[in-house]
Amino acid sequence: MSKDYWDSLAPSFEQSVMQIAEHDLDSTLKNQIRRVAKGRRLAADLGCGVGSLLPLLCQSFSKVYAVDFSSALLQEAKNRLKHPNVHFVQHNLAGDRRLPWTADVTFCVNALITARPSHRKKIGLSVFKATKKAGLSVIVVPSLESVFHTYHTIVRCNVKDGYKRHHAMRSVNRLFKTEVVSPADGIVNIGDSPTKCFMREEITTFLSDIGFEVAKIQRVQYPWHEEMTNAPSWLKAPYPWDWLVLARRPK
Ligand SMILES: C[S@@+](CC[C@H](N)C(=O)[O-])C[C@H]1O[C@@H](n2cnc3c(N)ncnc32)[C@H](O)[C@@H]1O
Repeated sequence: MSKDYWDSLAPSFEQSVMQIAEHDLDSTLKNQIRRVAKGRRLAADLGCGVGSLLPLLCQSFSKVYAVDFSSALLQEAKNRLKHPNVHFVQHNLAGDRRLPWTADVTFCVNALITARPSHRKKIGLSVFKATKKAGLSVIVVPSLESVFHTYHTIVRCNVKDGYKRHHAMRSVNRLFKTEVVSPADGIVNIGDSPTKCFMREEITTFLSDIGFEVAKIQRVQYPWHEEMTNAPSWLKAPYPWDWLVLARRPK
């Protein structure tokens, strides 16, 4: 997932990328932002995209850095939000340069998704280094458990629609083969792009290995129509979800 890839998505970002801030069914992310903002003034949104999180961050913090390496996405974010609290920064989080400031709270929402482990590690380290000592980080990643929950749910829906279970299973196994690039590594084609999805334990150990202390993990649930075309109206919870991790950089 290169800079060119993300630049190319700029004209159709709304349609091609699920921005969790806009689909957060229980306001989990929104409530977490309000809680971490209490008594803290400086935030950084690392991998901000077109800036779906920025209006909320600007309401809650007195200064917000919006960071991304895609010039096209940053330009779109600038066009959308003109607010005196926000400062846009073009920066490669997987590069060798360090950001010249640290924030009381860093946010990294679905930016740790490259299939390349070495890039994920570098992005994770950049998030850690951009977080003040004793500061907090809110990290959201796609859930691998949710991917499997979706396959089970497709079978459940098809059986309810009258398909024999083994036929429904065969068809979902075919879908699995086209979408899941590596079950063990959690790499799944999302919107045609190999995307890293994390198990709860994996994101915990990933962040601990970088140096963070993991304080809390929650689900950010989103609607079924983001995963299934023609999701039936009876289909409710448990919804698909991303993992939201609240982590602390030690003193
Ligand atoms: C799936 S989008 C998420 C955007 C936004 N956080 C949201 O939730 O809507 C991933 C974002 O991470 C950015 N990104 C990926 N790798 C990056 C890197 N190495 N340095 C800076 N930004 C990066 C992409 O340009 C893209 O804007």
